[in-house]
Amino acid sequence: MKFYQSLAIASVTVLYLQNGWCEKLNPMFPPDFLFGVGSSAYQVEGGWNKHGKGESIWDVLTHQYPEKMKDKSNADVTSDSYHNWRRDVEMVRELGVDIYRFSISWTRLLPNGFVTNVNKHGIAYYNNLINELLRHNITPMVTIYHWDLPARLQELGGWTNPVIIDYVTDYAKILFEQFGDRVKIWTTINEPWHICEQGYGVDIMAPAMNFPGIPSYLCGHNVLKAHAEIVHLYRERFQPTQKGKIGITIDTSYAQAKTDSDDDKVASELALQFYLGWFAHPIFSKNGNYPQVMIDRIDANSKQQGFPRSRLPKFTPEEIKRIRGTSDFFGINSYTTVLVTRNDCNNSANFPIPSFNHDMDVVESFDENWTKSASFWLHPVPSGMYNLLMWINKEYDNPPVIITENGVSDNNGVNDTDRVTYFNSYLASILDAMKDGCKIMGYIAWSLMDSFEWTAGFSEQFGLYHVDFSSPNKTRTPKASAKMFARIVRHHAIDWKGPDRPEPSIIKHPSIIHEQIINNSSKSSSRAKIVLTKKFEVHD
Ligand code: NOJ
Repeated sequence: MKFYQSLAIASVTVLYLQNGWCEKLNPMFPPDFLFGVGSSAYQVEGGWNKHGKGESIWDVLTHQYPEKMKDKSNADVTSDSYHNWRRDVEMVRELGVDIYRFSISWTRLLPNGFVTNVNKHGIAYYNNLINELLRHNITPMVTIYHWDLPARLQELGGWTNPVIIDYVTDYAKILFEQFGDRVKIWTTINEPWHICEQGYGVDIMAPAMNFPGIPSYLCGHNVLKAHAEIVHLYRERFQPTQKGKIGITIDTSYAQAKTDSDDDKVASELALQFYLGWFAHPIFSKNGNYPQVMIDRIDANSKQQGFPRSRLPKFTPEEIKRIRGTSDFFGINSYTTVLVTRNDCNNSANFPIPSFNHDMDVVESFDENWTKSASFWLHPVPSGMYNLLMWINKEYDNPPVIITENGVSDNNGVNDTDRVTYFNSYLASILDAMKDGCKIMGYIAWSLMDSFEWTAGFSEQFGLYHVDFSSPNKTRTPKASAKMFARIVRHHAIDWKGPDRPEPSIIKHPSIIHEQIINNSSKSSSRAKIVLTKKFEVHD
């Protein structure tokens, strides 16, 4: 072999070893694609009774029933963002993201829930946070309600009492008045299914009512009406001058048919309609109202059970009209996939009667071979994200989607290679969905930092930043995933080089977007430069 030939082979080998062939094929996100990170007030703030903050249903649940938390913990202090907000913003800057999604604690602002008493310390806290974000060109995305209902309102029945619609709209009006000049992306309500079914139907979330089959549907009805009233208020009184966007955040796992049988395919559709369609259909479908299959099943079951009327409340034609279209974007939280199959006529799954599960009539399971996480319910199945986005596209005529939460739990401290794999493989599926026509506008990784994970307490963690809960300042340290995510944001490209590259077996939709890479590579690198000039980085 000639000297030059050997040299050429040697150089190619070095290039290959340094970068891998796949490096050249890294899929790219469009230049205007938005990246963000998220958190919620009760999970990170602490300061549960500081400076006049009132009690929420999570303060009540954790204090009165500590045994309901896996580690008997509470979020009285948690990551202490009430005192560490400057460091939080610094972390968001380090990641180089466009958006920080956080929620406002209703009782920090309105201690008893009502506008009769506005807490100036609450206003000051969120002003500081918002101003600090804006000072660094980070867009605040504010969730109006992320599960911490004022305890006094729960005494009135919480989300099952229609009076909540007025009270939550009053609260939202204060937010628009106080912060709307600077907040340009709002989401009204986070994960209604969790609020209603997990909080009222069973006892997994506060207020842990554990009353299956009736209150969760009342809750859902009021959540939808409340969401619509908040959006109408914003659109009529604030949006014309403040010029922000407003939407809702809905959640579901992808429900994958366990087998190819027709029955299992029906189960998949039923599950998606019950989990997601319950809240999405009234807002995003062409005709509004609940999914017909949900109306039919609950009406029929109610009748058979001897109820003189359906347990699923009815919307009037005016209400259907008022709710439909009340979202500028489709906010979706999704983490995993479940396998679904039909329950049989004998209710072998033994669902309580009546109950949401009995109405849906679907049995859920996991594939033994799926990778595990620290959460029993969360298995990384990236193809599920692709399938879910395609389902939303088809069902609701391709709405603009923001993935408002996606992430994985572990307990591995800063060496979180599983999280690196998770983000890369889920983002690859999202790119596949975009290539196949879905309008995905942005992606918000959950979560900025380790925090209180509801009834799992501190036993499982989702953070890009590790929090040392035993240290006085709740010291935050970037994990491997934070460095990787910062690179993804900076390059607008997936970053799974080296040992972090996921096994091909878990990438079910490995199509690589060659055209997009070619079309966007020049734009993307100029965008990366812009980001670099305005933000510093943690990456190596
Ligand atoms: C969804 C919730 O909005 C968030 O609060 C929670 O931490 C994550 N899922 C992970 O369970």
